[in-house]
Amino acid sequence: MTMAKQYTTRTKASVPAAAAVGLSDVAVRFRSRKRDVTALREVSLDVAPGEFVAIVGPSGCGKSTLLKLVAGLLKPSSGKVRLGGEQVDGVRHDIGYVFQRAALLEWRSARRNILLQAEIRKMPPAQARGRTDELIRMTGLAGFEDAYPHELSGGMQQRVALCRALLHEPPVLLMDEPFGALDALTREQMNMELNRIWRETRTTVLLVTHSISEAVYLADRVVVMSPRPGTISEIIEVGLDAEREYGETLGRPEFRDAAAHIRDLLGAASAHD
Ligand SMILES: Nc1ncnc2c1ncn2[C@@H]1O[C@H](COP(=O)(O)OP(=O)(O)OP(=O)(O)O)[C@@H](O)[C@H]1O
Ligand SMILES: [Mg+2]
Repeated sequence: MTMAKQYTTRTKASVPAAAAVGLSDVAVRFRSRKRDVTALREVSLDVAPGEFVAIVGPSGCGKSTLLKLVAGLLKPSSGKVRLGGEQVDGVRHDIGYVFQRAALLEWRSARRNILLQAEIRKMPPAQARGRTDELIRMTGLAGFEDAYPHELSGGMQQRVALCRALLHEPPVLLMDEPFGALDALTREQMNMELNRIWRETRTTVLLVTHSISEAVYLADRVVVMSPRPGTISEIIEVGLDAEREYGETLGRPEFRDAAAHIRDLLGAASAHD
């Protein structure tokens, strides 16, 4: 067992207007003729502007449900969800959303997949092109702009999806197991790139992951959820500098203590790392 005292538990925090994302006492119940499922209950969480928060927890504990609430794709059964101080009331098109699979259009090149975001939003073309070039550079996709999805590796496809999600400079980026389908080495590279992109853009990020090391390496705070009905068991402050060299960070006591503590909380059975 690791020492638990040094960690702060903030499961009942109030939602200040300044929070980029705020959930207060949120519950989600799914009712159907066959069964009633309480996916989330008593979930309260504030995410500060520019903060990186990772969410870990056993399968079915409501992590994707939580992101869908923030995106306005789902309504809470009770409680409040806010984005930039405003109550979420319907689908929010201003945020960025990255899913486990890149979901690219096969008949469009990498560049044109990214630009799809601009077309949907009717962004000024020159601005969209400039921003696309910048993101392609930032994510190391230069030279592959004209490649089609089947000509790209899994990691490259996920980078294209990340560029597409970041094109309109969303104030909040939601990521639902974005690197789950990648091999371990590519995943590490994507983690390093995401850390750099987050530092450059200072977008607020909510990342759902099953990897404890990914959560601790990337986040300012890690939200650990309990099995269904999902509640927040504990929020762990990672306490590392924003700029994190991968190998060096993994060897740091702050990293190891936080990872060990999260592993204890989740229990060996539910941690896939
Ligand atoms: N639209 C829906 N209708 C009915 N039940 C749902 C719906 N969406 C989710 N659920 C249920 O809510 C619970 C939480 O689902 P959710 O997808 O949020 O879990 P998760 O933590 O993301 O799991 P995983 O790690 O496997 O992706 C599950 O029991 C699921 O069956
Ligand atoms: Mg999920």
